[in-house]
Amino acid sequence: MAWIAKNSAGTQIERREQPYLTDELKAKFEAEVLPRYPTRLAATLPVLHELQHRYHYIPYQAIEEAAAFLGVAPAQVLDTASFYEEFWLEPKGKYLIMVCQSLSCELLGHGSLLEKIKSKLGIAPGQTTPDGRFTLMTAECLGSCGTAPCALVNETLYENISVDNFDRVLDSLQ
Ligand code: FES
Repeated sequence: MAWIAKNSAGTQIERREQPYLTDELKAKFEAEVLPRYPTRLAATLPVLHELQHRYHYIPYQAIEEAAAFLGVAPAQVLDTASFYEEFWLEPKGKYLIMVCQSLSCELLGHGSLLEKIKSKLGIAPGQTTPDGRFTLMTAECLGSCGTAPCALVNETLYENISVDNFDRVLDSLQ
């Protein structure tokens, strides 16, 4: 894999006037989270979880605010947030489709299912439709190999998927 050099120094951070880390959130962290950790840095993950839970992704402005609150450099918080693929640094669609690509699902047709979703929605894994409705991802085993192929749409697990029946699921979400 080739390294891709990004001009991070020129990145523009979208900002809003109202902070993401509100006074209410800070008070909650001070009372409920920080006492459980030996240092403020050690509380980075629960702070990021709460921010994502509240805003459905973690804007860069929120990363900076979390860093100031934790007393660390923004780069340290960004390193953590970008390391775990469960954290979203960009807004995701209303419906997050995660197609399982592990062995059982792969053997039972994950490839044609993924191709159909890609062509129907016009996006590749990791992308979101321009209307913000769907984000497509691939995932490792969803824990339901006996009913492969499987996909998750938000918190709903679809099992024994065929290209046609999942097409109808997508139509119902349009
Ligand atoms: S391999 Fe897809 S659910 Fe386990």
